[in-house]
Amino acid sequence: MEKEILKIKEEILSQAKKIKDFKLLRDLETKYMGRKGEFTKVLRSLSALSAEDKKKIGRLANTVKQEIASAFIELKNTLDGSEKESDFVDVTLPGKKQERGHKHPISILTGDLEDIFTSMGFMVLDGPELESDFFNFEALNIPKTHPARDMHDTFYIDKPNKNNELDLVMRTHTSSVQIRAMREYGAPLKCVAAGRVFRNEALDACHEHTFDQMEGLKIGEDISISNLIAVMRELLKGIFKKDMEVRVRPGYFPFVEPGIELDIKCTICGGSGCPSCKNSGWLELLPAGMIHPNVLKYGGIDSEKYSGFAFGLGLTRLAMMKYGIDDIRLFNGSDMRFLSQF
Ligand code: DAH
Repeated sequence: MEKEILKIKEEILSQAKKIKDFKLLRDLETKYMGRKGEFTKVLRSLSALSAEDKKKIGRLANTVKQEIASAFIELKNTLDGSEKESDFVDVTLPGKKQERGHKHPISILTGDLEDIFTSMGFMVLDGPELESDFFNFEALNIPKTHPARDMHDTFYIDKPNKNNELDLVMRTHTSSVQIRAMREYGAPLKCVAAGRVFRNEALDACHEHTFDQMEGLKIGEDISISNLIAVMRELLKGIFKKDMEVRVRPGYFPFVEPGIELDIKCTICGGSGCPSCKNSGWLELLPAGMIHPNVLKYGGIDSEKYSGFAFGLGLTRLAMMKYGIDDIRLFNGSDMRFLSQF
């Protein structure tokens, strides 16, 4: 038995010398010292010995066990040291290429438009996406029972506001910023506000529940519809980098009087008619109008003294025209094959 113990010790120590990594060390430990290990078996068999042998051999077995344990600890320490050495970083090696992020096409367009407007002296504002029924509808001359609400079906929020009223909606248009801006800055006022808007739409290539608009308004003394058209022309020139041919049609929106729709000559066919312009030669781009006196009043502005125009540019639609994108769902789809083209 004594011989056997010493033999196992020699075996372990000689094998331990050759070990170069933690895995082999662990294997060796399991082989001899694990629950079913060879040395463990010997220790177990001690119980069968006579009391005297048990004492003698037991003492030897214990010393050997300790020797092996300290040999393993030493080995672990050396392996630790050598692993640290292999952590050495060669700074001259070529690095891993980091993908660079970039702006979303709508953000690029928003930035370009904000530049154009700031160059004309407009402030850049924004407003909350979770809006009150008051700013989104009521103060824009769209009372509770008004049929215009049908075109703006949105997501009504079933949590009450601070005053315990059920008044919150996801804003259906950026026009809600109009009243906020008037109340904050008064007249005269020139501002734009871009951002996301939400509608309860059946989705297809032309309809999304979340899209982007840019609202603009100018309020002052003697503002007329010719000011509106002049600013719109300037805006289109900035975007398309050339003078665009436009036409104006009447349009109905409760918060403007008169309301207009500004169309541009089709960018695809140049006016001769194609599927993109439904063969009319014109593309609907910009609803606008002269701010309704009721809206000025809600904004706290004297409608006898001041007048103004407002417009609501569909940014998503404009981006589709500018970049030739035929499916609106691509914008929020997170498909990198689409997004990395911008
Ligand atoms: N807010 C309208 C919509 O989303 C668009 C609009 C029309 C905005 C006329 C305006 C405007 O400022 O004058 O349908």
